[in-house]
Amino acid sequence: MRIYKTKNYDEMSKKAAQIIAAQIELKPECVLGLATGSTPVGTYQNLVKWYQEGSLDFSGVSSCNLDEYKGLSPENEQSYRYFMNHNLFDHVNIDKERTFVPNGLEEDSKQACEMHEQAIRALGGIDLQLLGLGRNGHIGFNEPADHFPKETHCVNLTESTIQANKRFFSDESEVPRQAYTMGIGTIMNAAKILVVVSGEDKADALCAMISGPITPDVPASILQLHPDVTVVADEAALSKLK
Ligand code: F6R
Repeated sequence: MRIYKTKNYDEMSKKAAQIIAAQIELKPECVLGLATGSTPVGTYQNLVKWYQEGSLDFSGVSSCNLDEYKGLSPENEQSYRYFMNHNLFDHVNIDKERTFVPNGLEEDSKQACEMHEQAIRALGGIDLQLLGLGRNGHIGFNEPADHFPKETHCVNLTESTIQANKRFFSDESEVPRQAYTMGIGTIMNAAKILVVVSGEDKADALCAMISGPITPDVPASILQLHPDVTVVADEAALSKLK
């Protein structure tokens, strides 16, 4: 595991964007695995800026997102498809037909999850998977559990996740109760993984991810077994690592 320590969020975002840009330079027809949440927003801003300046070309790039709320349409501002369009896809020359986010409107969970796995397979697998880290060590919507889920699956959101996410909705009752997420196996199959982490509130989770025991109780700890993981984290997030 390679660890880059940055001074702050802005530096973290720039470094992570440089790694993604290098991947696109190296293989213009690459498949990016993408994440939502607050941490990658600055990374996407840098990528958009470099595209607008003419130094980055997304025309050959395909993408697969980690997760999506079940029941939310792409037009819903809280959906992860909306997030991706708004933060990246609408501002660069990526072909949206080749951007895959689990279909939140597919009510048949099995079908929705199989479609996502199939999309990843059809693209030939993920070259570089971007991940954020949850405070409890989750990646995607893979929450602490007694096993590592293998493939894309439907999860019931925990009460703590519903409480954490309700700030984005006008009413708690509007927070979806389920989501589709890549499994730990899907994530581990990516050729390279890039984890972005910022802030002191992630310090315990990052410490457990890097140097704690490998356990489904800290889903991100499995990344210790992946041969090509790069962590870009700021000083605050790395403050608990000895
Ligand atoms: C996002 C995702 C989540 C987030 C994690 C951290 O697609 O799957 O696992 O990466 O919850 O979220 P932020 O960055 O908002 O702290």
